[in-house]
Amino acid sequence: MQKETIKTYYCSKLGEIGGYIPGDRRIVVLIDSALVEMYGNLFPYPAISVEAREESKSFLKVEEITLRLMEMGADRGTFLLVVGGGILSDLGGFIASIYFRGIDFAYVPTTLLAQVDASIGGKCAINVSGYKNILGVVKQPCFTLFCGEFLNSLPKKEVEAGLAEMMKTFLLADRSVYFDAVDSLTGTSPFLKRISNISELLPFIKKAAEIKISVVERDPYEKGERKLLNLGHTFAHALEKLCSVSHGEGVSIGIALAAKLSVKLRLLESSEGDKILRDMEQLGLPVKSPVAPRELTEIITKDKKRDGDNIQFVLLKSIGTAVIYPISIDRLKGVLNDLS
Ligand SMILES: NC(=O)c1ccc[n+]([C@@H]2O[C@H](COP(=O)([O-])OP(=O)(O)OC[C@H]3O[C@@H](n4cnc5c(N)ncnc54)[C@H](O)[C@@H]3O)[C@@H](O)[C@H]2O)c1
Repeated sequence: MQKETIKTYYCSKLGEIGGYIPGDRRIVVLIDSALVEMYGNLFPYPAISVEAREESKSFLKVEEITLRLMEMGADRGTFLLVVGGGILSDLGGFIASIYFRGIDFAYVPTTLLAQVDASIGGKCAINVSGYKNILGVVKQPCFTLFCGEFLNSLPKKEVEAGLAEMMKTFLLADRSVYFDAVDSLTGTSPFLKRISNISELLPFIKKAAEIKISVVERDPYEKGERKLLNLGHTFAHALEKLCSVSHGEGVSIGIALAAKLSVKLRLLESSEGDKILRDMEQLGLPVKSPVAPRELTEIITKDKKRDGDNIQFVLLKSIGTAVIYPISIDRLKGVLNDLS
């Protein structure tokens, strides 16, 4: 199979963005409605704005935006520029992949989560009747354009969500960057408590994006290695269903539970498991599950990552090395029982 190549541009100032937008194409912008006032002037093109809510990732919205595109005269040659977080990239990428059987598109991710995760890898999807990401495709954008300055206006809970995903990427793939990130972002007080200078994050955002890009280029359709990017997510999805945690909190607690399970199954040294929990806490990320882990079992057994009678967990062998570890549904209750 042909190796995918993923094109990215990094610009340090918002004012430089215009220089990366193809001048010879008819552009339509799909933008998060909350960003129009703050950043709309950076994109002086015909625009459609959409509220960044899970409910917008729907058939209804796809139809509404399709009709708007048709009214605007968008044709096969139109280039869709998608500006916003993961909701916009999921929805915009999906529409661009099917409008006139596919038009060119690019992402300008504006949340930390989208910069380290959602805008990379080509997965885009909509929800159906409350079931998340059921209809989707894997289609790479023409490029993703990163600018850290968008993050200055990001609410703290959104930074938390992206930070958990960023640390996850380092934990599963790069020991030395993980250590660097912890050293640099913990310092005297947790990063999330002194979040005044987002620029501290920039080198790590680039590194996390590069790691995800290289994994996806090797395994675009998640046949193997790409599955490792789901570290902590089996627990996170169950927590999100069972209690009112945000996705970021779910991922952070999920990583902590995956680390504890890895220690319990003797894959990971307990000193490394303890370090991970301490590091997450020092970053200001939550690690304690609001429900007993055994209560998660029932939800986990319905997880999309179920493979026959096994659940495919992503666990850690060491900081920087993850493995796929199937656990049978029968065994699961036992191993989760005393995982506090
Ligand atoms: N396709 C993938 O690979 C992938 C990966 C992870 C997550 N996702 C999807 O991403 C979605 C979540 O994405 P998200 O966390 O980026 O959320 P989001 O797009 O909903 O944005 C979160 C909030 O931040 C606001 N916002 C966005 N940029 C801002 C900025 N620069 N300043 C101030 N506010 C800003 C939005 O208006 C919104 O209220 C979920 O639907 C999830 O399924 C997809």
